[in-house]
Amino acid sequence: MTIKSKGMEKLQKTGNWIILSALTVLILLGSCVHEPFLNPIDVNEGNPKPDGCLDDGTVCFESSILPIFLSSCARSGCHDTKTKKDGYALDSYTNILKKGISPGNANNSKLYKVLFATGSDQMPPDGPLSNSQKEAIKLWINQGAKNTTDCNCSCDPAIFTYAAIIQPIMATNCVGCHKPGSLGGNIDLSTHKAVKAQAANGKLVGSITHAQGFVAMPQGGKLSDCEISQVKNWVSAGAPNN
Ligand code: HEC
Repeated sequence: MTIKSKGMEKLQKTGNWIILSALTVLILLGSCVHEPFLNPIDVNEGNPKPDGCLDDGTVCFESSILPIFLSSCARSGCHDTKTKKDGYALDSYTNILKKGISPGNANNSKLYKVLFATGSDQMPPDGPLSNSQKEAIKLWINQGAKNTTDCNCSCDPAIFTYAAIIQPIMATNCVGCHKPGSLGGNIDLSTHKAVKAQAANGKLVGSITHAQGFVAMPQGGKLSDCEISQVKNWVSAGAPNN
């Protein structure tokens, strides 16, 4: 009886000690992980999916991630192949994966963490990405940072409201180079009013359809046929703020 309870006491002491050390380790670990947590449901207004196409829950690199890098990072003078600021060229899948991405672990990926930097370290320097863009990049990295292309995106040319369709297309593909502070060609595409002005003068459709007489946009790429139809349909409807 005495032996048993002594044994129990010892066991209990060891148990307490283990729990205490485990807690200490957890607290210590917790204090050095500054994990930016974004709930996709909060940042996407009830929609758990980030912008872009994600029919099976997989983030499409080609249509959802690459355009963000092209319009916000790979601009001339920054992380294009020519300037390669700080050694980072961020203009293609191969280059983006070269350093700063740890596939499967966004919180260990410098290119993700830097999106939360402030002050002189802020990236992009002229204004942070939106929460839904950060969330899309995080999901893409956590899903293994795969080179998903030719994705089977659900896109309906008959649906083209400004808030749900046109603004996200602009945000992903254009705004990085066309916002106050970075006005490519002196053109702003960051607000409804500004996009409407480019719709009215014909440049919006001219540039995205790569029509003759216009500079082809987005630089170095082309929107999908369905996205182009959505923009054209929205412009034909009078570019409403709907
Ligand atoms: C990487 C930066 C970059 C991205 C991304 C980009 N643009 Fe541009 N855009 C520019 C620059 C720079 C110019 C000025 C080019 C020139 O004048 O040669 C320009 C010019 C334009 C023009 C004027 C074209 C003309 O013929 O006068 C329009 C309209 C335009 N962009 C729309 C867009 C749209 C819409 C998107 C997204 C689908 C987009 N841009 C994406 C940098 C960019």
